[in-house]
This record gives sequence, structure tokens and C-alpha cells, in this order.
Amino acid sequence: MLNFLTLLPLLPALLFPAPVRAWSSDNHTCALSAPIYSCENTTVIQDTCCSPTEGLVLVTQFWDTYTGLESEGSVLPENSWTIHGLWPDRCDGSYGQYCDLSRQYDPYPSPNTTTGKPDGEWVPVWEGGDIVTPLLQAYGKWDLLAYMNKYWKNLNQPDWVLWQHEYSKHATCFTTFDTGYDGRPDCYGSLYANSTEAALIDYYEAAIKGFVQYPTYEWLEAEGVVPSNETSYDIAGIQKILEERSGAAPYVGCSGPNKDVLTEVWYNTHSLGRPQSGFLKPVDAIGRTTNCNTASGVWYYTRSEGSEAEE
Ligand SMILES: *[C@@H]1O[C@H](CO)[C@@H](O)[C@H](O)[C@H]1NC(C)=O
Ligand SMILES: *[C@@H]1O[C@H](CO)[C@@H](O)[C@H](O)[C@H]1NC(C)=O
Ligand SMILES: *[C@@H]1O[C@H](CO)[C@@H](O)[C@H](O)[C@H]1NC(C)=O
Ligand SMILES: *[C@@H]1O[C@H](CO)[C@@H](O)[C@H](O)[C@H]1NC(C)=O
Ligand SMILES: *[C@@H]1O[C@H](CO)[C@@H](O)[C@H](O)[C@H]1NC(C)=O
Repeated sequence: MLNFLTLLPLLPALLFPAPVRAWSSDNHTCALSAPIYSCENTTVIQDTCCSPTEGLVLVTQFWDTYTGLESEGSVLPENSWTIHGLWPDRCDGSYGQYCDLSRQYDPYPSPNTTTGKPDGEWVPVWEGGDIVTPLLQAYGKWDLLAYMNKYWKNLNQPDWVLWQHEYSKHATCFTTFDTGYDGRPDCYGSLYANSTEAALIDYYEAAIKGFVQYPTYEWLEAEGVVPSNETSYDIAGIQKILEERSGAAPYVGCSGPNKDVLTEVWYNTHSLGRPQSGFLKPVDAIGRTTNCNTASGVWYYTRSEGSEAEE
């Protein structure tokens, strides 16, 4: 029975509530507070290691028809798009790049300054080669490395070049991957012997966590949209399928002089807590409409002979 008498013992607590303990972000233990969706915070983010300030998280994928390195055994996975990266856009769809030059491992910085204009800081060229393969091997992450070799494919360059480009250009702008550069927190400080290495491995896992939740090839195939060099497709139809299947309208990108070759899809999400958690909520693409030719059909080409892995 709920009446005044049952509530009486609670009265002191109701009248004199215990002071709310100040939130401590000293050691970046994200478990201490309930996670919020990025870009949906209603107050200032207390610990940027636990929720990214650039919180529009993009799961980006490629459809390529060849790798250019088939002669070296690099082929595309059957029945699957490939990973481009996991990107931290600002909540309005704008973005930064190369946010931590102490973690610059990209041999071909693009753009070559942090702003993409001559006034930006120069992004130094990385000349140390592949750091990812030996790192994953040293930590015994053979399964992760094998998955990346299969699904994270570059075009006309070794795959590690794309992996290191994505990390240096994009991962360094996610506050949840900060490792102490330029007064920023070290999100990995209390748990790992080497934050730099921990953040690298964590990024590659986070990107794959996103990728596996957005099986573009399967979604299109289920609606009869399969690669073909004979039939082109209406881009609106492709967008509709991907929106219905993923839960929100992604950005779909095309290349070629007529912008009629389907090559990219970017799923926009908000992450519950750190993007490392992989709990991503689809949201409609913000600030971008497709660059694909909406007047003519678009081509979803089949892979070149010999460019696809044989299962
Ligand atoms: C969300 O957090 C960011 C980063 O701390 C802050 O700039 C922004 O003002 C916050 N949003 C709201 C509505 O308080
Ligand atoms: C930097 O990039 C800009 C824009 O792509 C290009 O015009 C310029 O030549 C590049 N600078 C150098 C030194 O490579
Ligand atoms: C954890 O927090 C304590 C108390 O503020 C601080 O002295 C210590 O340096 C922190 N440790 C790390 C690894 O950040
Ligand atoms: C952390 O790892 C990086 C990359 O392997 C290495 O360059 C750096 O020296 C290491 N730092 C420490 C403190 O061991
Ligand atoms: C289909 O067209 C694409 C784009 O021109 C080409 O790369 C591919 O080799 C073609 N596929 C086959 C099986 O010929």
C-alpha cells in the first residue's frame, strides 16, 4: 500500500538527497556512466574518450571491379562489397582530417595539408612502410589480419596503404581513439602498455564491427539487384533498398565521367558510447545527396575476370 506512512521513512532522503558525485574522467572508465548516442548528447560530453565529439559515425564501403594487384594474388571477396573505413564526421556532416600528426602513417597523404588548403598544416609523408601487418602478427591477431586481407581492399596499391591512410586521416579525429597528443586525453592509458598500438588495433576492429552490420551485397541481391554488365539500375531503387534494409538513407556514390558507375555507399550512424562498442544506430545521411546520375541508369558492374576470389 502506497500512502504517506510508507513513504515516511524515505522522507529524509527525499528532503536531503545525497550530493551527486562529481563525474570523474581521470582514468576514462566508460563503464561508470550510462552510454549516450553520439550527436544526441543534451549536455556537454564529460569524457570525450567515452563518446566521440565528432559523433556522426560513417560505415563506408567500396564496390570495385578489380584490385590492380591480381598478379600479386590480391583479389576481391566474392558476394561482398569491401571496407573503405569508419569515419568521424561532425554532427552536421562536416569533418576534419589528419587530427594527430604524431600518428601519421599514410605514405600518400590526401589532402596534403590538414585543412586541404595551403593554410593548413603540412601532413608529413610516412616512409616507414607497413606497420599494421607486423603489429597484428606481434599481437597474434591472425584472424583480424586475414579478414582485413580479404575484405579491406585497396585499388592499385597494397592494402596496408589504405589501412594506414584510413587510420591516420580518420581514426585520429575520433576523440575516443585519442592517445594523449597535444593535450588531449590518453583514452588507453590505464589499461594498455602501449596506447598507440592499442588504438590502432581497436580502430581496425571497430571498422569491421561496423562493416559486418551492413551487408550491402546481400541486401541488394535479396531484391534482385546483382552486378551486371548488361543491365543498368535506377539509382532511386538502389537507395530505397539500402534505406529499407539498413534502417536509414545512406549516401550512395558513383564515379566515372557520367557519374553512372556505382562505387561507394556510406551508412551514417550514431554510436552508443564509443564507436569501438559497435552499437550503431542508423540515421539518414546528413548534408550530402547522391552524386550518382539520376537521369540515366547506373552501372553495378561485375568483377573483372580473375579479380574475384574463388570460394
Ligand atoms: C554535445 O557535446 C559537445 C562536445 O562536448 C558539445 O560541444 C555540445 O554542445 C553538446 N551538445 C549539447 C546539446 O549540449
Ligand atoms: C598539395 O596538394 C595540392 C592540392 O591537391 C596540390 O595542388 C599541391 O601541388 C600539393 N603540394 C605538394 C607540395 O605536393
Ligand atoms: C588515474 O587517475 C588518478 C587519479 O586522478 C591519476 O593520478 C592517474 O594518473 C590516472 N592514471 C592514468 C593511467 O591515467
Ligand atoms: C608503442 O608502440 C609504437 C609502435 O609500435 C612504438 O613506436 C613506441 O615506441 C611504443 N611506445 C612505447 C612506450 O613502448
Ligand atoms: C564488367 O565491366 C567492368 C567495368 O567496365 C569491367 O571492369 C569488368 O571486367 C566487366 N566484367 C566482365 C566479366 O567482363
